[in-house]
Amino acid sequence: MIHGSAEEFRLCVKDLLDAPCVQSMQRFTQHGDVSTLEHCLFVAFFSYLICHKFRWDFRAAARGGLLHDLFLYDWHTPHCCEGLHGFTHPRTALKNAQKYFVLTRQEENIILSHMWPLTLRALPRHRESIVVCCADKVCALLETFGYVRRLRRRESLRWILLLCRMAESQAGLSRAA
Ligand SMILES: [Fe+2]
Ligand SMILES: [Fe+2]
Repeated sequence: MIHGSAEEFRLCVKDLLDAPCVQSMQRFTQHGDVSTLEHCLFVAFFSYLICHKFRWDFRAAARGGLLHDLFLYDWHTPHCCEGLHGFTHPRTALKNAQKYFVLTRQEENIILSHMWPLTLRALPRHRESIVVCCADKVCALLETFGYVRRLRRRESLRWILLLCRMAESQAGLSRAA
């Protein structure tokens, strides 16, 4: 049985998604041919579904998940950041997110700890942080090995809507059963 709905997910992140800084993530490549915005939506949506299922804070998971890679540069470009991207980008993403949005402590920890255990001292301190941390790794693998390509069409954001519709129709099927 699928918990949560695409509409509820959309409402959780609507104000963030409408913001130009979040939209600008569409310009940057994350893994393979997946943009950073698509990756963040992917992570946010699955984290939302998992937290909804366990009655955890699905709103924080969705919002923190969407902002977790708000570092706002192409990490494939040489000298794109100070230090090593893998270690430094959670703090950059957090600084950017704090600049544009009011975050809860939980959302801050989700962003800061999503690369754990690489960032050893930035521990996931909430269940939702652990969910986003794991969803990020699974999504990164799926994207790198091309599985996401099969799920979405070329236009950005259409594939997440497809995922949302799939979740809705499965919820409908399980209600009808
Ligand atoms: Fe990241
Ligand atoms: Fe990520």
